[in-house]
Amino acid sequence: MGATHAFWLAGRQVTGEDTFDVTSPWDGRLVGKAGVPTDAQVEEAVAAAYAVRDEFAATPAHVRAAALDHVSKRLVERTEEIAQLISAENGKPIKWARGEVGRAVSVFRFAAEEARRFNGGEAQRLDTDLGGQGRLALTRRFPKGVVLGIAPFNFPLNLCAHKIAPAIAAGAPIILKPAPATPLSGLIIGDLLAETEGLPAGSWSILPVANDKMPALVQDERLPVISFTGSEKVGYAIMDSVPRKHCTLELGGNGAAVVLGDFASDADLDWAATRIATFSNYQGGQSCISVQRVIADASVYDRLLPRIVAAVEAQVTGDPSDAKTDVGPLVSEAAAERVESWVKEAVEAGATLLTGGDRDGASYAPTVLTDVPADTTISCEEVFGPVLTVQKVDGETAAFEAVNSSKYGLQAGVFTHDLQVAFRAHRALEVGGVVIGDVPSYRADQMPYGGAKQSGVGREGVRFAMDDYTYERVLVLTGLAL
Ligand code: SIN
Repeated sequence: MGATHAFWLAGRQVTGEDTFDVTSPWDGRLVGKAGVPTDAQVEEAVAAAYAVRDEFAATPAHVRAAALDHVSKRLVERTEEIAQLISAENGKPIKWARGEVGRAVSVFRFAAEEARRFNGGEAQRLDTDLGGQGRLALTRRFPKGVVLGIAPFNFPLNLCAHKIAPAIAAGAPIILKPAPATPLSGLIIGDLLAETEGLPAGSWSILPVANDKMPALVQDERLPVISFTGSEKVGYAIMDSVPRKHCTLELGGNGAAVVLGDFASDADLDWAATRIATFSNYQGGQSCISVQRVIADASVYDRLLPRIVAAVEAQVTGDPSDAKTDVGPLVSEAAAERVESWVKEAVEAGATLLTGGDRDGASYAPTVLTDVPADTTISCEEVFGPVLTVQKVDGETAAFEAVNSSKYGLQAGVFTHDLQVAFRAHRALEVGGVVIGDVPSYRADQMPYGGAKQSGVGREGVRFAMDDYTYERVLVLTGLAL
């Protein structure tokens, strides 16, 4: 570790004139240096991507699929090394980092499969009316153009994978920008793509562009599609600055887990409490779908709450490189200070702190709050930290209203055994995904993933991102003997 990591410009490895340090949030050690592209190098990457857009769209499916399969296989072979890099630069406990590599393996594998079956075309007969006699419509999807992918720090490998793999599968060139705090895991994808053959050189670049250079790139008309994952504030600022571009925004959430009255056996409540405790704290709560709000029916509340507190207290905190650690540091000390100030504000406003509430540098202790006033920051915003609020409600309707009282709507979990309730939840909850019998944090990488309300627009999940990067074009054939 500590080496300089070159970036990827139009498929070749390049060093810029400058580097920046990537440090571990756990102990501050230097993990590596990332090369920074100059303005001229960024321009070269954009020009190269724009120049190959037709060639790339026409690249045979087997070439794109083989490249994606190769990356998937190589991620398997290099899992341990990459997991250690994720853990070092992000502070993610090694067991979660290994899980993240496993997910990226799947993302590239799904993308290879989708590349093979995408765009087979759909035929529609048009002789349903006199004017369409002898006519047939063929519909296929074509890339909208070059994608600008902007990835966050919290899944530094897999959320880069979710941008670049669907782009390659759809034949859309991509400029990928990893997060400044965690660029090294995303750059590894370049190492693996560079081992493949047949992708046009300009079809992919991975550039750790400084944030202050991004507005110019966002405005560039050669990049008509922007796929952004990150904060609500930055996401909507991007969309507002380029209203005529196609923007996919995967933004924040304050995920709710509802526990209803029929989920009441000891085994049910133990399961719910364990899942809630685990997924409010995984990655230090730095996931858009971590559990932030527990909404429990009054009939189970008194038996659930002590179980949640016990399960949260059982989370092992500490060194992220230790396989026993469940919760490591947040991405920076500033992030932990922000979480600390939100908890303090809630407690001063009358919330009860049941456990946690302590900060040590970038680490924040797993925390449970009850009686949290509805107008506090922690009730309204995305905490992105290991903090859970627990609220008592009377019945299903009140529970669903509480979920929907948020400005966000990414995913929700509903602990129930009742299939009718599951369907009612699916209808009532204003979110992108409802998970029955588990926490909102469940995500399979092939599922459509994205938000309602202020949680964003568009969907990721390999095939859904491919839809987003492409548009339908109809071919009408005339004079046919149908
Ligand atoms: C996110 O934080 O939005 C990504 C969550 C995930 O992929 O599990």
